[in-house]
Amino acid sequence: MDFTGKTVVVIGGTSGINRGIALAFARAGARLAVASRSQDKVNDTVAELRAAGAQEALGASFDVRDAEAVAAGLQGFRDRLGEFDVLVSGAAGNFPALTAEMSINAFKTVIDIDLMGTVHVMKGAYPHLKRPGASIINISAPQSWLPYEGQAHVCAAKAGVDQITRTLSLEWGPEGIRVNSVVPGFIEGTEGAKRLAPSPEAEKSFKKDVPLGRWGQPQDVANACLFLGSDMASYVSGTVLSVDGALYQRGSGRAGQMIGQMLRAMPKPG
Ligand code: HXC
Ligand code: NAP
Repeated sequence: MDFTGKTVVVIGGTSGINRGIALAFARAGARLAVASRSQDKVNDTVAELRAAGAQEALGASFDVRDAEAVAAGLQGFRDRLGEFDVLVSGAAGNFPALTAEMSINAFKTVIDIDLMGTVHVMKGAYPHLKRPGASIINISAPQSWLPYEGQAHVCAAKAGVDQITRTLSLEWGPEGIRVNSVVPGFIEGTEGAKRLAPSPEAEKSFKKDVPLGRWGQPQDVANACLFLGSDMASYVSGTVLSVDGALYQRGSGRAGQMIGQMLRAMPKPG
């Protein structure tokens, strides 16, 4: 895969899976822009992207809940790097919590980051996408179609993300813009996996469920993004691609239940 001369923007690209995606495009020679809330994380990532071989690398700090800040940040990337060939939208927040026990604001926080954040990124990026040829990749989750106890907020938000993917593939397809979602499996060492499997026992138990016999690595997800971002995928749009070692063929399985059991066993305040 050679992305020399291509501009790749990764929103939420400063840690975990999304940082792995940005690094893969950097190694393939792209011009990179990353964004997240923490300027320190942005600076650290930009340095790593340059060292990995990015033709250029820069970043900005903003919160995806702030539509105006997102639009301004994306305009800045366009001014410095040109039109976007690939846009990865992956900023997300998640915590396990039972619906009856979480506040309205807790539920709304995840909707605002994962779902409205995606809307802000799509709308902010739209004027800057290369036509024809741009590839948008929304980072989704199995919660978009599988119910998990303690995850109603993420389930609702990511279902919305995948419907945005499908709908925009129709609306923007005639302009030569492709839109797809990628669903990572349980990806080792990431914040998302730690939050849902917080003990070594839970980790071990979930790992046993993966038909391919191992947890995923950020590079596994990055490989799918390299494909979707390339001309090899020039006729692929509107799809939701799981990169999960076949884990989700089992439904939400043990994880879907264990999160609920873990939360019910926790001491209640007061
Ligand atoms: C119940 C909680 C809570 C918890 C926060 N809240 N954590 N409620 N249980 N564990 C409530 C707060 O009390 C508050 O409600 C509201 O949520 C907002 O909390 P803040 O801390 O003010 O929010 P903020 O500072 O904006 O931080 C957002 C965050 C945080 C989502 C809460 O965790 C974060 O920044 N996360 C980013 C990193 C992350 O989550 N990575 C994992 C992505 S994995 P009140 O009512 O008190 O005001 C993923 C899916 C993975 O997305 C799938 C794997 C299979
Ligand atoms: P992570 O390391 O916590 O990454 C989240 C990224 O988003 C960080 O760069 C974070 O940086 C940024 N971010 C969070 N809230 C933001 C906000 N409000 N505005 C702007 N940026 C924000 O998480 P991860 O586990 O690697 O997950 C990455 C993606 O994969 C997410 O979309 C997640 O839903 C999906 N996923 C993960 C797994 C898994 O196994 N980990 C499984 C399925 C799906 P800042 O803190 O600096 O803002």
